[in-house]
Amino acid sequence: MDANSIGAPPRDVLDHLRRTVEEDWALARRRSWGEAGWLEAASALGDGIARVVGADPGEIVVTDSTTINLFKAVVGALNLRPKRTRIVSEAANFPTDLYATQSAIDLLGEGHALVLAADGHDSDDDLCALIDSNTAVVVLSLVDYRTSRRRNLARINAAAYAAGALTVWDLSHGAGAVPIDLNGDRTDFAVSCTYKYLCGGPGAPAFFFAAARHNDALDLGLKGWLGHADQFAFELGHRPAAGARRALIGTPPVLSTIGLQAAMAVWAGVDVSAAAQKHEALSSLMLDLTDQELGPFGVSVASPRHYAERGGHIALRHPGGNALVEALADADVICSFRTPDSIRFGFSPLTTRYVDIWDAVARLRDVLKNETWREDRFAGRSSI
Ligand SMILES: Cc1ncc(COP(=O)(O)O)c(C=O)c1O
Repeated sequence: MDANSIGAPPRDVLDHLRRTVEEDWALARRRSWGEAGWLEAASALGDGIARVVGADPGEIVVTDSTTINLFKAVVGALNLRPKRTRIVSEAANFPTDLYATQSAIDLLGEGHALVLAADGHDSDDDLCALIDSNTAVVVLSLVDYRTSRRRNLARINAAAYAAGALTVWDLSHGAGAVPIDLNGDRTDFAVSCTYKYLCGGPGAPAFFFAAARHNDALDLGLKGWLGHADQFAFELGHRPAAGARRALIGTPPVLSTIGLQAAMAVWAGVDVSAAAQKHEALSSLMLDLTDQELGPFGVSVASPRHYAERGGHIALRHPGGNALVEALADADVICSFRTPDSIRFGFSPLTTRYVDIWDAVARLRDVLKNETWREDRFAGRSSI
């Protein structure tokens, strides 16, 4: 139940890893950069992800971490809006997004200011009201990592566009779970990790999306040889590659990319809208069963009731907090805790079965009914 933290491994991932090590690395050696597609993987996998999130081929690459990609996207956006000094985000954003945004401002900033919607005053309406004619970029997470509130991508993109501002979205808690239509909703930039609902595995590279319309003028600040139009020409000056490939910097982490390759081979056979429908059904089942089975034990739902306003996971609240999560793990139900009181259950349309949700709720009810979570062994334990 923790696809919101780390998705399950594809069944044949070891075959992919073994082939890479035993054949491509041990035997073919340097030839594998071309023959095994090591250099092209960033784009090939990006094109696979594009199908899942409503982008076009060439607009997504996999590279670096989410934090680094967000930094590059914010720098790119600020460079496209040089006369504007306002950057809009929210206090409830995932902290690394705010750190990276502030880092970009610190480096580039000439009177730039980060304006944050305060907790409790951060509805989509509140955010749109902060976007003005001096706003360069709006930096938001599609889905709140604690409550799973999902923002209205189309609406905020439209408000930014109307004001002449750009948008940078972190899709980490949505990509591979909820329906996303980046181009249909006129998104400028997006980033996401790939180890949650996309099932790329621990350490898999993140992805970077830039709408094709920004290609010509896009300057992401950091330039490297992998993002050069002709990387083996070894030219003195940097000529950016076409499309999102200019976001590539240095040598890709090939072994960490193999898990994502195995996962995207699975995704290639998936009807994306059917997957999104299954996710909605899983998520709604969890809500219904929570109301039915757990309400009497003081469990409340922190996530929005309407699916269109909800992301990949459902967050519950209970004073037992982390001890409850640890007691559940002891009963073989892996979910996660985020301060102050979010107990998160994430559902993967690829791997979560309806029966898993029934079982998880039944075990949570047992843990509550028997008060197992109050046992000393669960007190004070913290896990990631
Ligand atoms: C919304 C969000 N953004 C970013 C990250 C992590 O980014 P990175 O890939 O740089 O570790 C997480 C990690 O869980 C996240 O939830």
